[in-house]
Amino acid sequence: MTDGGHGGHGGHGALASRAAGLDAQHAATDLRHLYDLPTGVVYLDGNSLGAPPRAVAPAVAATLAHWRQDLVSSWNRHAWWDLPTALGDRVAPLVGAAPGQVVVGDSVTVVLFQLLRAAAAMRPGRRVVVTDAGSFPTDLYVLTGVALDVGWEVVAVRPGEVPQALAAHAPDVAAVLLSHADFRTGELWDLPALTAAAHGAGALAVWDLSHTVGAVPVDLDAHDVDLAVGCGYKYLGGGPGAPAFTYVARRHQGAYEPAVRGWHGHARPFAMEPGHAFADGIARARTGTPPILALAALGAALDVFDRVTVEQVRERSLSLTGFLLECLDVLVPEVDVVTPRDPGRRGSHASVAHPEAHAVVQALAARGVVGDHRTPDLVRLGVAAPYLTHGDVLHAALQLRAVLDAGEHRAPEHQVRATVT
Ligand SMILES: Cc1ncc(COP(=O)(O)O)c(C=O)c1O
Repeated sequence: MTDGGHGGHGGHGALASRAAGLDAQHAATDLRHLYDLPTGVVYLDGNSLGAPPRAVAPAVAATLAHWRQDLVSSWNRHAWWDLPTALGDRVAPLVGAAPGQVVVGDSVTVVLFQLLRAAAAMRPGRRVVVTDAGSFPTDLYVLTGVALDVGWEVVAVRPGEVPQALAAHAPDVAAVLLSHADFRTGELWDLPALTAAAHGAGALAVWDLSHTVGAVPVDLDAHDVDLAVGCGYKYLGGGPGAPAFTYVARRHQGAYEPAVRGWHGHARPFAMEPGHAFADGIARARTGTPPILALAALGAALDVFDRVTVEQVRERSLSLTGFLLECLDVLVPEVDVVTPRDPGRRGSHASVAHPEAHAVVQALAARGVVGDHRTPDLVRLGVAAPYLTHGDVLHAALQLRAVLDAGEHRAPEHQVRATVT
């Protein structure tokens, strides 16, 4: 999107030519044409619900046609049965996993439960689990529930304090559960170092990659991560409620015994035996019948990554978030940027603090700049790099300036809070 009519701020002209230069430099990874976005919108909420790749609608329509035409035989004819593992192998390269270690299905919340219960069984006798006190709430809720079930004490600290917590509680720590990027500030935590620290205490490293899969290279195998989960509907663009993925490192698969044991994770599902027997390999992480329409959408969304590597997405994302911070510094210097400026510590979104953050987000949306609000006081601007340009992020900063200058966030209609913020 180009910006018109918002001159007059110091540095705007210079920023506009920098945006044009950067967009020319990064032209090869501008994949906006692969997405079906409304015109006139700068979409900065792809870290909540990714924008739809154009390939999704035809893929879902084709799956509906298969259903209608081939009915139940579609499970064989269109390989629906194997879709969770087939898509898992397509997600695997995005997280640095060799084939056979990733399966798609269930929500992040459910997968967290499965991973944590299995982790407890893999570290019997250890009574402590360490986590980030600032984790996304569902992670804390699931962990608290599992801790009640298995008798764990939850030690919740910030990721920077995890090594000290491990030192204080080793050798009693069963697992460390962390998110790769902070959902509020966008801070990227040091996955290799924290995984090594967990292992130093004999604990399992369990990672939630929801805010990095498809945006930041992860290298699970290279860093010996034990268990991981990630979201299908943010940077992967699988659509609302898209299934999440489970990663179980191959070395653990024999011992991985999830608490919810469904027939799709059985060694012989159609033998219909009364007793459960885990399938070999990652298929044991399956539960029940997978949502085939949602998997079809996710599969088509993953086609984007046939056109661009996650390393290229990361390069584009860092340029965009870096430029966004630069624009905010010049145009909106009074707001406090809470996202790290060091690119190595930055995920793929930028957040600024404002006492009326919710209303500011509403006023921005009225101007076609869609971000979101996270409590208590953050305006969160997500950067899904494939469909955003440097011109877009400059436009967003200019609109924020205009909202604040005119006090648009004070308008009564922007005080109303909907269910989803
Ligand atoms: C880190 C993290 N974990 C989990 C979730 C959501 O889990 P679910 O897809 O089960 O709602 C989110 C959603 O934003 C998230 O940011």
